Amino acid sequence: MRTPIMAGNWKMNNTNCAAVELAKAVVEGSAGVKGCEIILAPPTTALSVVNEVTKDSPIAVSGQNMYWEESGAFTGEVSAQMLLSCGCEYVILGHSERRGRFGVIEEGFTEELQSVFGDNDATVAKKLKAAADAGLKPIVCCGELLSEREKGMTDAIVGDQVRAFLAGCTTEQLQATTIAYEPVWAIGTGEVCDADEANRVCGLIRGVVAEVAGQEIADAMRILYGGSVKPDNVEGLMALPDIDGGLVGGASLKADSFCALIAAAAKSAGGGCCCCGG
Ligand code: 13P
Repeated sequence: MRTPIMAGNWKMNNTNCAAVELAKAVVEGSAGVKGCEIILAPPTTALSVVNEVTKDSPIAVSGQNMYWEESGAFTGEVSAQMLLSCGCEYVILGHSERRGRFGVIEEGFTEELQSVFGDNDATVAKKLKAAADAGLKPIVCCGELLSEREKGMTDAIVGDQVRAFLAGCTTEQLQATTIAYEPVWAIGTGEVCDADEANRVCGLIRGVVAEVAGQEIADAMRILYGGSVKPDNVEGLMALPDIDGGLVGGASLKADSFCALIAAAAKSAGGGCCCCGG
């Protein structure tokens, strides 16, 4: 039995005051919930202040990215040790917004401008190993573009991404890892992936993990779905066996909607609220 995760990726939202307010509201709104691991991933600048709010609660804090070196002349980057020093337990790696894999190019932006962060399979693999070796738990993202889905390439693209970042991992690195399947066309679009299809791809990912790392590690690994997860679609997703939780953008920016997602994930695991039985 895998404990579900509900992780809020705040992306580049919330200055420190707003971050503290939102974190406090999530702590309050999720008090008493059992059976679901809760993660908040604020922007780097707000990690310490959010950790101050959550440190006496079961809520874990996550970075949204990191660099694989420990320290040095890497202007603007943060290391695993720096994230740990802000109270992080997790780090999101290889998000499509950092890989430069975009379904829709925003008006006024060229594809080149949107790809400036430049993560790719090779750098994500290095980051995963450095994060896990430092004692962080990586949440590593994968997912296909709409054009790739339309060409029937979903399984090949996702399988290749997962093989690339798991290649050469030790048992300890694999055991620390969570994978997030985030189809790029579903991120921030309101167009959630059909639950059965999301479950199928998460199952495919678990199969790749089993191939690379063995069945035992694959059975224990949490595989999340991300992309327009909302209170009105979360139950359908969480009911399926290979989806172990959500990596949530928009709906994590309001405490009400994020706490509704947390409650649904807890309920799917047979948990719920110890106070109200909900
Ligand atoms: P949305 O929930 O806004 O679609 O974002 C998903 C995501 O990218 C989480 O990492």
